[in-house]
Amino acid sequence: MFLLRAAPYLLLTALASSVSAYFVVTSPKLNDQWANGDTRMVSWSKGALDGISSFDIEMSRMSTDGLTLVAKNVPSLDSSQKSINILLQDVPPGDDYFLLFINSTHGVMHATSPRFSILATGATSNSSAATNAKAPTVTVSGAPNPTQAFATTFAVVSGASRLLRAGQTWGVFGAVIAGVLSAVWTLLC
Ligand SMILES: *[C@@H]1O[C@H](CO)[C@@H](O)[C@H](O)[C@H]1NC(C)=O
Ligand SMILES: *[C@@H]1O[C@H](CO)[C@@H](O)[C@H](O)[C@H]1NC(C)=O
Repeated sequence: MFLLRAAPYLLLTALASSVSAYFVVTSPKLNDQWANGDTRMVSWSKGALDGISSFDIEMSRMSTDGLTLVAKNVPSLDSSQKSINILLQDVPPGDDYFLLFINSTHGVMHATSPRFSILATGATSNSSAATNAKAPTVTVSGAPNPTQAFATTFAVVSGASRLLRAGQTWGVFGAVIAGVLSAVWTLLC
């Protein structure tokens, strides 16, 4: 009887964890330093079934309102594609930069990076200089300027709509299961 009663809870927990969004920026790390003229890797980790097949990356500062549009339609269907490289040029130095992982069409935020520093050209930065040779490199130049276009726009991924649809179906399925389970729950209690 205990198992019977626990089963709906366990199933719901499993459902909830598979549909909830997990999206974490793994690089840059807190207080990382990037010098202008250096190429650095931006990487992330996210749930495979979250329905997010692509997203946009923007950069901002805590002390000012400016936004730099870094990359649009970054593909994330392929699980091996979990990073891009960014080359900084003439970006004003500061210790309060962060990256936004967002759908800029409707403004839904997926994740933000920890705060990091940008140093002047030629400065020695203390963070890892690793880049992903297989990932594209986006050049970011100048001060944050929202009227500028995205520095790079990736081609829309084929199969994006397929994944999205799978995600939506899963959501509906989850709702149906939840309904059935609550009925079962009522019967048992
Ligand atoms: C943002 O969301 C819209 C509508 O859901 C979608 O069509 C678009 O592809 C999304 N943008 C990216 C970069 O995935
Ligand atoms: C780099 O320097 C900053 C500022 O001194 C510090 O907060 C940060 O922890 C350092 N990072 C590494 C990887 O040493």
